[in-house]
Amino acid sequence: MKILAISGSLRAASLNTALLRAMQAAAPAGVEVEIHSLHELPFFNEDLEAAGAWPAAVQSLRGQVRQADALLVSTPEYNSGIPGVLKNAFDWLSRTNEQNPSVLMNKPMALVGATMGSFGTAIAQASALPMIRALGLQLWAGQRLALPQAHLLFNAQGELIDEATRTMLQLYMAGWVESIKASK
Ligand code: FNR
Repeated sequence: MKILAISGSLRAASLNTALLRAMQAAAPAGVEVEIHSLHELPFFNEDLEAAGAWPAAVQSLRGQVRQADALLVSTPEYNSGIPGVLKNAFDWLSRTNEQNPSVLMNKPMALVGATMGSFGTAIAQASALPMIRALGLQLWAGQRLALPQAHLLFNAQGELIDEATRTMLQLYMAGWVESIKASK
C-alpha cells in the first residue's frame, strides 16, 4: 500500500512535516508513506489551466495522488483555518477536464495537524470538512490526531522525542490502514 503525505507548511523546520516523517516511521510493515512537497506549486489561476498543459508541479502532484491508495494531510492552523498553501493544492487537485479525470473522488484520506498552540489544529481541521466533503474524499474519522504544543514533542532536528506520541501515531496508522484495507 502506498500513502501520499502532504504537509500544509513550507517551513524547513515545520512541525507538520516533522509529524509526517514520524507517521512515516510509525506506519505498519508493507505501507510506504511518501512525502510530497508543495514548494513548486504555483498559485491556482484559471488562465494557467486555459493555457493548455497544466504546470509540471501540478501534473506531478496529481499523478502522485492518482497512484496513491490514500492521502495523508498534516495541516498547521493559520488564523483558525488551513493555510493557503494547502487550500491551493486542493484547488489544483479538484480540477478536472477530459484529459484530467478526478484524482480525489472516493480517495481515502486522513487529516492530522500540529501546532505550537493549545488546541492542536482542531479548529483548522474542522474548517476543512466542507471542502473535504465537496471533493468526495473519504475522510477517516476513526481517531483524532491534533497535536498541541508540538514544539515540545520534537527536537531541533525535527525528530519525535515523545514516546507516548510515538505510540499514538502507531495506533493511528494501524487503525487507518485497517480501514483502508476494509474499504477496498
Ligand atoms: C499561526 N499559528 C496558529 N496556531 C494555532 O494554534 N491557531 C491559529 O489560529 C494560528 N494562527 C497562525 C497564523 C499564522 C499566519 C501563523 C504563521 C501561525 C501558529 C502555528 O500553528 C505554528 O506556527 C505552527 O508551528 C505552524 O506549523 P509548522 O510550520 O510548524 O508546520
